[in-house]
Amino acid sequence: MKLFTVGPVACYPEVLNEMKRQMFSHRSSDYKELHKETVTMMQTFLETENQIFLFPSSGTGFMEASVRNCVKKKMLSCVCGAFGERFSKVARSNGKMVEEIRVPLGNPIMPDMLDEKLKKCQEVEAVSITHNETSVGLINPLKKLADVVKKHGKLLFVDAVSSMGGAEIKVDEWGIDVCFSSSQKCFGVPPGLAMGSVSKDALKKSEEIDDKGYYFDFKLFEKYSQNNVTPTTPAIPQIFGLNKILRKIEGMGGKEEYFKIYLKRSKMIQDGLKKMDLTFFTKQGFRSPTVTSVNAPKNMNGLEVYVKLREKGFELAKGYGDLKDTTFRIGNMGYIELNDIQLMLDTLREVIQ
Ligand SMILES: Cc1ncc(COP(=O)(O)O)c(C=O)c1O
Repeated sequence: MKLFTVGPVACYPEVLNEMKRQMFSHRSSDYKELHKETVTMMQTFLETENQIFLFPSSGTGFMEASVRNCVKKKMLSCVCGAFGERFSKVARSNGKMVEEIRVPLGNPIMPDMLDEKLKKCQEVEAVSITHNETSVGLINPLKKLADVVKKHGKLLFVDAVSSMGGAEIKVDEWGIDVCFSSSQKCFGVPPGLAMGSVSKDALKKSEEIDDKGYYFDFKLFEKYSQNNVTPTTPAIPQIFGLNKILRKIEGMGGKEEYFKIYLKRSKMIQDGLKKMDLTFFTKQGFRSPTVTSVNAPKNMNGLEVYVKLREKGFELAKGYGDLKDTTFRIGNMGYIELNDIQLMLDTLREVIQ
């Protein structure tokens, strides 16, 4: 089966190979070396001097951590799809109050909306932004949004689960306080590891909060990081995998080269869809480089397209939630060859005709 999923995605063979190495103790010098090297490469990748924490969880764990460590009472959540919505739910389920900006699906959060909202609710302590909204294949203008958040002096949480590795993020220059992702997306590593950067301001806020729990306590992670370890047992195989892909990216000439691959894949997919007269769900100018959301053709619903492609050996992604019938999605994260994109497009054409 060729995977064009939105995660977990197909993994690089060299990553899988690396992951079958024998374990060692997470208190050993072998682990400390692996940890230090991986964290340093992540800092370079994200252009940050902030701490990098490696959580033995999926990306949602980092969402919960940001809320528990950095919000006493109230935050603002920018919602342009299912994962922005999840941030609100995570915050509310942790007893926090949530203000929201909501836009119709397929549209981005724009800086002027954010500015207006922040003028009206100055009491919020932090703002969450989904960089790449996987549910609708949309990338938000993160740098401009970050500028607004910083102008208002708020902490900024960025869910970069489906963009970290696939699109530029400059953590320090853009002033991102918590920026996280999951292993099973653009880095093409199996699930089970969340990685994120945490700023000094976020750590300072965490110091002031008592009821943040134990498992995702930023201050505890900071303390153990000084010794290149984690407070609890880390996902060592996934860290081997992440280390391998980061070294591969360095070997390719750096992250810009990796981003070019994403642009090339998404352009090839989007050009191919246009040639079939298929249309996009997401507003032009904000289409994601890692996942494309496509309106179902006239003669078939989105679910049928997904099922038919699967029968022919290509797993796409269903439209998310209520969009299941009217859309389908094509992910291009992880290990994908350009040949396979062409084969998938040829098969899609055959199926919808
Ligand atoms: C944008 C975004 N945020 C959050 C998540 C949740 O990540 P995880 O399943 O790793 O917890 C996903 C998963 O697809 C996502 O795409």
